[in-house]
Amino acid sequence: MTVPTATRRIGVLTSGGDCAGLNAAIRAVVLHADALGWEVIGIEDGTLGLLDRPVRARRLMPAEFDGILLRRAGTMLGTVSTGDPFAARMPDGTVVDQSERMREGIAELGLDALIGIGGDGSFRILDRLARLAGVPFVGVPKTIDNDVYGTDAAIGFNTAVEVAVEALDRLQPTAQSHDRVMVLEVMGRDAGHIAIHAAVAGGADICLIPEIPYSMEGLTAKLRAVSASGRSFALVVVSEAVRTDTGEPVAHVKPDGRIRYGGIGHWLAERIEAEIGVDSRVTVLGHVQRGAEPIAVDRVVASALGVHAVDLIAAGRAGRVAVWSRRGVGDLPLEEVVGRTRLVEPDDILVRTALGLGIYIGDLPPG
Ligand code: F6P
Repeated sequence: MTVPTATRRIGVLTSGGDCAGLNAAIRAVVLHADALGWEVIGIEDGTLGLLDRPVRARRLMPAEFDGILLRRAGTMLGTVSTGDPFAARMPDGTVVDQSERMREGIAELGLDALIGIGGDGSFRILDRLARLAGVPFVGVPKTIDNDVYGTDAAIGFNTAVEVAVEALDRLQPTAQSHDRVMVLEVMGRDAGHIAIHAAVAGGADICLIPEIPYSMEGLTAKLRAVSASGRSFALVVVSEAVRTDTGEPVAHVKPDGRIRYGGIGHWLAERIEAEIGVDSRVTVLGHVQRGAEPIAVDRVVASALGVHAVDLIAAGRAGRVAVWSRRGVGDLPLEEVVGRTRLVEPDDILVRTALGLGIYIGDLPPG
């Protein structure tokens, strides 16, 4: 049972790339906090709202969540996906510590606790900031990449998979009509979760993910086998951080050091055409995977994690991340989550399933 403590005002913000289900999570925080008699202050544009004066934040009222926001993509609060306020890079190249101004912002809002809906990088920064401000912090994991350690599903992941599967559903008829190989490039950064889930659910023949090495020999052998079976089209899913067969990254490094992926799909289609002479086309899904209306399971996960985050604060259990695991909620200490990346492991059920379906997923060692 939840025993309310002296906490009276919770701040909530979204941080990092947006995804489907963020508004559902904010809604859950507001509704549950309200039921406990607490206020929720929504901070705008991630930590950036704390830099401005007056601080860009407002009281979130349960009445605002009239049903529309539960369904709406994006984040009603705005977000920021660049920079570390403890070492913010200015336009002139200098690096500035903005944390003191943000601490003042938290104090100005009179917050008793902070809930951050973000990825593990955001958790590290927000926890540090909350400590500086002397308020407890709880993290709620969101990312289409699903790479947050300790949670089976981060908010937004399942909707991103749904979008990718819908894309395959639309690519299949046109692939069949034109006897083509259709390459679908999906997001995910260093984790192939979106790709392998989409490949299994969308009936792909080939799925390349960053975690598993592949060879053009293996890949073309699969395409030849498909052709030999009497089928004249094929579907290929490739995750954005997959490298060329010689290990070259297909990405741009931005001035701030961030890697921007995109392009491996085009590289792959060219190679397929060159190697086996079959007409190939590419679809790069990109941010379409983030902007969709959240599907039911994402609304469930977002709601459960939002409620649990409030419960953690109520129970005085700060410094934790709410997680969705084995169809239930739980929580882990921040230190266990931060700095780790949840990748597709060789013994993952999706790897086993893909192999069982005959999908070429790379050259795995035997056994
Ligand atoms: O981390 C989520 C994600 O959508 C990745 O899959 C992708 O590589 C990246 O963000 C794109 O970032 P941005 O929105 O900055 O282009």
